[in-house]
Amino acid sequence: RRHLLHHTAASPTSELPPEPEPVLGLHFPDGFGWGAATSAYQIEGAAKHDGRGTSIWDTFSHTPGRTRGGDNGDVAADHYHRYLSDLDLMQELGLRTYRFSISWPRIQADGRGTPNQRGLDFYRRLVDGLHERGITPMATLYHWDLPQSLQDVGGWESRDVAHRFADYADAVFRGLGAEVATWLTINEPKTVVQNGYLQGHHAPGRQDPAAAYLVAHHLQLAHGLAVQAFRGSGEPGRIGPALNLHPCYPADDSAAAEAATRLYDGYENRLYLDSILKGRYPADVLADLGPDSRMVRGIRDGDLAIISAPVDLLAVQYYTPIYVTNDGGSVRRWPTSQAEWQQIYPAGMYDILTRVTRDYGDVPLTITENGLPTPDRPDADGTIDDTGRISFLRDHLAAAHRAITDGVPLESFHVWSLLDNFEWNEGYDQRWGLIYVDYATQERILKRSGHWYRQVIAANVI
Ligand code: NOJ
Repeated sequence: RRHLLHHTAASPTSELPPEPEPVLGLHFPDGFGWGAATSAYQIEGAAKHDGRGTSIWDTFSHTPGRTRGGDNGDVAADHYHRYLSDLDLMQELGLRTYRFSISWPRIQADGRGTPNQRGLDFYRRLVDGLHERGITPMATLYHWDLPQSLQDVGGWESRDVAHRFADYADAVFRGLGAEVATWLTINEPKTVVQNGYLQGHHAPGRQDPAAAYLVAHHLQLAHGLAVQAFRGSGEPGRIGPALNLHPCYPADDSAAAEAATRLYDGYENRLYLDSILKGRYPADVLADLGPDSRMVRGIRDGDLAIISAPVDLLAVQYYTPIYVTNDGGSVRRWPTSQAEWQQIYPAGMYDILTRVTRDYGDVPLTITENGLPTPDRPDADGTIDDTGRISFLRDHLAAAHRAITDGVPLESFHVWSLLDNFEWNEGYDQRWGLIYVDYATQERILKRSGHWYRQVIAANVI
């Protein structure tokens, strides 16, 4: 195999190891799962290859005005064609676990029917390549690329789509089940609700609060049905949801801010945690939505039992805290990153992990996303000096370490992201990777943070 550094622009100084980064001396448990994460639409490209159908993100990103600069995922990081060299890069980093997603429209172009063997084969080759390199696969079934044909019949507003998802999941379990150690059902249902149906800057681009919370219910129903299908398939391995959780803090010490924070937390966290892990929706959120809301009317007998089908692990994605004002709005308290929604607050990682364990018991936890966007560019010598990402990751890992020390059963941590990629409506402007992608040439360059992460993994210490 080619050595990692041969992937870089061949300037000699780019091959020098970076200066040693300060070490905090925090050792992680033996066997800790050091990982990185991606998703299909954000990296694969090959939008029309091997029978792939159209997804709502193809439609959305090709609609003028929807994404920054009109960017789309047609080519992205071309991972579909470059997965072998990307696997080699993962091996050079020393990853123990790699989280990727399976593109539903590659498996079922129209969201239903006989699975497309060429689509399954791609993921089979990827998973085989991971095993050959000693990297444990973690596969997300749905990372937002709904087949357009299903959107055309109502998308997640349609209860039937939850059943279509379970059928698709079943086809994937049968095609790849034995090879994948950990399955994640739906990535960040809350983001679909909030960005896709409330604010509208993600596909399908709606601004319809009534629809949004019905979608929240159907996404969770889909999660539960997929868990049931997984148990029914008899495949080994584990399954759980992937939730982006936001620790919510009052912006001041008024009673009004405290009450507003409680309800805000209901919408951000308990709407997904209580249902999946306790089998009930939070009463305060249901009361706030009201008995005549589309969501409340859409909950049928037995749904919560499906949604709370026992899971094997909970995947947590942490990026930012929220500070809630006494009128139920939010304010910023910490410096933001290039993503204006992200305040940099590492202690939030500790707070959310310990809270989940305190309130929901000791279900095994994994961090499936944490990371920082920066406007990276190669220096004159071809190196990429993203020291901000190193401090960000180190501080968040230190918070995760403190949570482990306090008894949180955290087994792994996946940096978002392995590679620079298509950041949805933000296009390619924000670079989240440990590995830089030159989109003109598809050349990959390990950033300084990637060199740092490799050393962290090798030493099991930050
Ligand atoms: C969450 C999403 O799962 C992922 O697709 C996205 O790129 C990152 N957060 C960064 O915004």
